[in-house]
Amino acid sequence: MNFQLAILPGDGIGPEVTDQALKVLRTVETTYGHSFDCHFADMGAIAIDKHGDPLPQATLDTCMAADAILFGAIGHPRFDNDPTAKVRPEQGLLRLRKSLGLFANIRPVTVYPNLLHLSPLREEKVRGVDFVIFRELTGGIYFGEKGKTEDSAFDNCVYTKIEVERIARLAFEYARLRRNKLTLVDKANVLETSRFWRKIVFDLGAAEYPDVQLDWMYVDNAAMQIIQFPTSFDVVLTENMFGDILSDEASVLAGSLGMLPSASVGSKVALFEPIHGSYPQAAGKDIANPLAAILSAAMLLDHLGLGEEANTVREAVKSVLEAGYGTSDLQAEKTVKCSEMGDLVAGKVREMAGVVA
Ligand code: IPM
Ligand code: MN
Repeated sequence: MNFQLAILPGDGIGPEVTDQALKVLRTVETTYGHSFDCHFADMGAIAIDKHGDPLPQATLDTCMAADAILFGAIGHPRFDNDPTAKVRPEQGLLRLRKSLGLFANIRPVTVYPNLLHLSPLREEKVRGVDFVIFRELTGGIYFGEKGKTEDSAFDNCVYTKIEVERIARLAFEYARLRRNKLTLVDKANVLETSRFWRKIVFDLGAAEYPDVQLDWMYVDNAAMQIIQFPTSFDVVLTENMFGDILSDEASVLAGSLGMLPSASVGSKVALFEPIHGSYPQAAGKDIANPLAAILSAAMLLDHLGLGEEANTVREAVKSVLEAGYGTSDLQAEKTVKCSEMGDLVAGKVREMAGVVA
């Protein structure tokens, strides 16, 4: 089948990890007989440098015309310590999410058996960890009214019923495909928006998903439980900012931030990106871990309805790790470069698809 893909390599290590994900997609294309038309566009610091805008209209147009978007990373240190910067790379990503209506960010947290030793937690705590964070992505404090004066500043947190209901529905449906357990994470002992979420999610659960076991947890407690009992979670549903923080925390379980992919969905076109940032210190050195980008490409294949192809990519990643290969962050038996990791996974996909065919 033919698909239109928008490719946004972005900043820092974004281009090099995206290259590896593309290498794997190109292999899927030839071995399974699909065709992916790739349309490259700029977003982030690179787009500010080239066009004066972190999300140029041409990039938005490319994304809107695509079936799916593969995105690398965003951010550059020269903006990080400059509170006066008017334009920031991150604004590009936030505007893209909002413009495309990508209200649900899905972040699976999986731990690979042969990476257990990398986790700062004891192996028996992390063995078998398999949960998914559903993070609301286009509302809350990220998008509420903001302002500042000489001696004060504010960021409003606002949620509407529609915003809460639509992501809750996706999370309930997803729980049904898994272990049928949904945990709502909030701060309902303090925040009005959290109490609002809780009423909507519990009403929806009772009315339409009585078969899904629904519980709730305060976010501070959840931050602790994710470390103490990470295998007890199945689907976690939460608002924008809590989801941002908890997903970085959860990545530690997997041993490296370089292992976690994500999908942002909501409208016809969906966006796929590693959860890690632009890691500027490693940019251009060919040492970054491309697996989060490659696993994001697998989620992209799922979205296109190519489930078998997606599973092959995931199996290929597993098998390369089991063979003892890893980028430097994985402290593997055989340390390989970012580009070599891409070659290994692509080679494995070719081999596995050959076996299937
Ligand atoms: C993420 C990132 C973004 C976010 C930044 C880059 C705006 O941290 O995707 O988790 O906070 O959503
Ligand atoms: Mn984040």
